[in-house]
Amino acid sequence: MNIIDIIVKKKNKESLTKEEIDYVIEAYMSSSIEDYQMSSLLMAIVIKGMNEEETINLTKAMVNSGICLDISSIGNVVDKHSSGGVGDKTTLIVAPLVACCGVKVAKLSGRALGLTGGTIDKLESIPGFKVDLDYEDFVAQVKDINVAIMSQTDDIAKADKKIYALRDLSATVESIPLIASSIMSKKIASGAKNLVLDIKVGKGAFMKDLKSARELAYLMKKIGIYYDIRVICLLTNMDSPLGNNVGNSLEVMEAIDILANNKVNDLTILSLEIATYMVMLGLNISKKEASDLVLANFNNKNAYHKFLELVKYQHGNLNALPKSKYIYHLKARQSGFISDIDVVKVAIACKQLGSGRTSLNDKIDYSAGLILNKKNNDHVNVGDEIMTIHTNLSDISKIDFNVFKIQKERQKEKPLILEVI
Ligand code: URA
Repeated sequence: MNIIDIIVKKKNKESLTKEEIDYVIEAYMSSSIEDYQMSSLLMAIVIKGMNEEETINLTKAMVNSGICLDISSIGNVVDKHSSGGVGDKTTLIVAPLVACCGVKVAKLSGRALGLTGGTIDKLESIPGFKVDLDYEDFVAQVKDINVAIMSQTDDIAKADKKIYALRDLSATVESIPLIASSIMSKKIASGAKNLVLDIKVGKGAFMKDLKSARELAYLMKKIGIYYDIRVICLLTNMDSPLGNNVGNSLEVMEAIDILANNKVNDLTILSLEIATYMVMLGLNISKKEASDLVLANFNNKNAYHKFLELVKYQHGNLNALPKSKYIYHLKARQSGFISDIDVVKVAIACKQLGSGRTSLNDKIDYSAGLILNKKNNDHVNVGDEIMTIHTNLSDISKIDFNVFKIQKERQKEKPLILEVI
């Protein structure tokens, strides 16, 4: 087999066979296919697409490139995954909440890359929090307290890790078959049998419109059926950041505020919904029963205490959360209603403050980030504080914080949860 012939085939919009896909993944992993050849093939896939069978074969090849965790001894484990958003710290709220409803949550998470955040970075902003667990300890912890969150190890879906890094550098991330196979290969290899997927739609997401988000959802459900995994997809709005805080330790603080004080914002609503579907799958109960259970455990602070238990179990010290040296307050220059918060600008500003990374080896500043004191349709008067900037940089004059649009009239709001598939 020859990589050039395979690239030409895809360039001509022909389907690749299972043998050709297996060859590409094996040869790329053994470095007999070069990065420039692989990125050429990836670009051909972005432009010409892949059918369902090709996507399943690609997923399979990526699953087989690494180890597969057997977590069946834990019982009916439920997992969640977000396709990537700004300010998305739902896992910090949902994992303990679902766990205290009696459902086992064994969660492997990733780090931030590009404009989206990563759960592992948020947890690592808690001094001492151990994200690198042995699989035996991980399984034992889930059996003991129903929940564990660890960093995805290098031996899971190895090909996805290598290919994702290349996609990130070759403008080939935004492809439905590539995203579906990337996400699902990791979930399959990590042993998930029930999965709630939060597919972000909008300006701050890979999927810019509902049509492509639906297509991604159906494709991931098909892969789920092939692997006997029950998958529920929530299509949710990512036109503006989720919650008020963006930046690692600031996001941990917001999750604590929601769990400890029952603060309600868009993040709370989405977290309760995701938790409900996870409990439904985990306990095989109706949505109404799951929702009642989730709400009860949220309101009575069981979820907050489970979060504290989780942090303590993984050696984190919440009293030592890092704080920035400088705090700046941004005030509204006109009055009216917030009509838009530019999610991409927020993500770029946070990254420039140091809370994100461009390459996986970059060091990040856990305390840096923004607090958006106002959200869409909140009314502001001239001089109201609309944003708080947390930074260790003495000069932030080159960073664009002009993220709020203010209009005289209230705007019609898009729903947060657009569809459930
Ligand atoms: N998240 C992933 O894990 N893979 C993608 O391709 C996109 C988002």
